[in-house]
Amino acid sequence: MTEFEHKHARPEHPIMDVIAERWSPYNYDPERSVERHKLLSCLEAARWAASSYNEQPWRFIVATKDSPEQFERGLGCLLEANQEWARHAPVLILTAYASKFSRNDKDNRVALHDLGLAVGNLSIEATRQGLHVHQMAGVNLSRVRAVYGIPEDHEPATAIAIGYARAQATSDELAARDSSQRQRNPLSQWVFGDKWGTTSSLL
Ligand SMILES: Cc1cc2nc3c(=O)[nH]c(=O)nc-3n(C[C@H](O)[C@H](O)[C@H](O)COP(=O)(O)O)c2cc1C
Repeated sequence: MTEFEHKHARPEHPIMDVIAERWSPYNYDPERSVERHKLLSCLEAARWAASSYNEQPWRFIVATKDSPEQFERGLGCLLEANQEWARHAPVLILTAYASKFSRNDKDNRVALHDLGLAVGNLSIEATRQGLHVHQMAGVNLSRVRAVYGIPEDHEPATAIAIGYARAQATSDELAARDSSQRQRNPLSQWVFGDKWGTTSSLL
């Protein structure tokens, strides 16, 4: 029994352990940095995601506390509410995607989808490595573009905190978030069959 067992999924059908064990913490151990080889494995997992036409539109800007100045730059791009807890994580990644196909310069309408697949891979590998990942939409996108000089044909998208969760919380509010159980909608609510809104007979 781990100290975070209450965060594990309670699946109704069997799933891989790493999927069940992944969760998004608000309390990171500020004393524990992420080992370089683990971070590289996380990025490698992202690298092998599927993507439309193998375009691999994802782009990651990595900031670690090994360079405090670099970390502050990344942190300053998050919305205030996310900065509060993410400042304790040792690694921040800002994500972006190429919005056009390199092969024909046409819009890639699934680029954000493919970025999500890459981040999904990263999250699962991180969990396998004993790390914890917390993704964020709460990012100041125009600031990211300006701070890092992101060109017009690429779109800044999200941020990701990576580190080791810790049971000891930095505030009561953050303690409450990490002590609650994770909830999910039942399959019957979103797996459809003959018509939109009618549950699939598979279930
Ligand atoms: C694309 C995306 C954006 C998110 N944005 C934020 C955010 O800005 N701030 C935050 O605290 N959590 C954010 N989250 C975390 C979600 O709230 C969290 O994944 C969800 O509540 C499910 O919890 P779990 O990851 O522990 O299963 C985001 C997650 C994703 C996938």
